[in-house]
Amino acid sequence: MTTEHEAGSDWAQVDEYLNGTIVKPGEEFQRIHEAAEAAQMPAIEVSAAHGKLLSLLVQISGARRILEVGTLAGFSTVWMAQAAGENGQVTTCEFEPKHAEVARKNLDQAGVGDRVEILLGPAAQSLQQLVDTPGNQPFDLVFLDADKASNPEYLELALQMSKPGTVIIGDNVVRGGEVLDADSEDPDIQGQRRFLALQGDHPRLDATAVQTVGAKGWDGFSIAVVR
Ligand code: DHB
Ligand code: MG
Repeated sequence: MTTEHEAGSDWAQVDEYLNGTIVKPGEEFQRIHEAAEAAQMPAIEVSAAHGKLLSLLVQISGARRILEVGTLAGFSTVWMAQAAGENGQVTTCEFEPKHAEVARKNLDQAGVGDRVEILLGPAAQSLQQLVDTPGNQPFDLVFLDADKASNPEYLELALQMSKPGTVIIGDNVVRGGEVLDADSEDPDIQGQRRFLALQGDHPRLDATAVQTVGAKGWDGFSIAVVR
């Protein structure tokens, strides 16, 4: 087993080829990359191919109300907000004020600022507040992509704001194969292992996980639908 997350150069080249051939990200995504780099943010956003997959999942499921945990510079947020359309609403949770500030600019520049609310602070607190707010409609689609150690907790909170048909996607569930290490001392790995087991055992979820390679290395995502 390799613990290497680094992309094989051929994986990255194929992603580049696919970006130019079928994914076709708009220029706004290049601007987001540049803004994130200028702000010295970590380059851990989803690849363009995965961003487009999120967009397609929004379109296929007809999602209008979207919850994201982990905004970063707003890259995946823009993909989903565009797909949700003018009447869509994205609520996205971010811990770092600096990241939220960069994301706000990126969202506004991409023309989707009006349909995105950024909740600043620890995501578990923001999610609990959403749960406790009377009258909130359930979410149609949830993307979990923040600190992986808390994913079991985020999943439970997301389920409290779900309905039959809600789609729940989790990023980075393979991490170069590290997910196999039951004795890992990395809280993120233990979080992802519990996150996957919870989904497999949950009476309200029908779920799978798919391994991926590409510009972001060897990783994977989980996808579930609420029964
Ligand atoms: C990391 C986090 C991510 O969400 C990701 O997609 C890749 C890497 C990280 O924390 O290292
Ligand atoms: Mg991620």
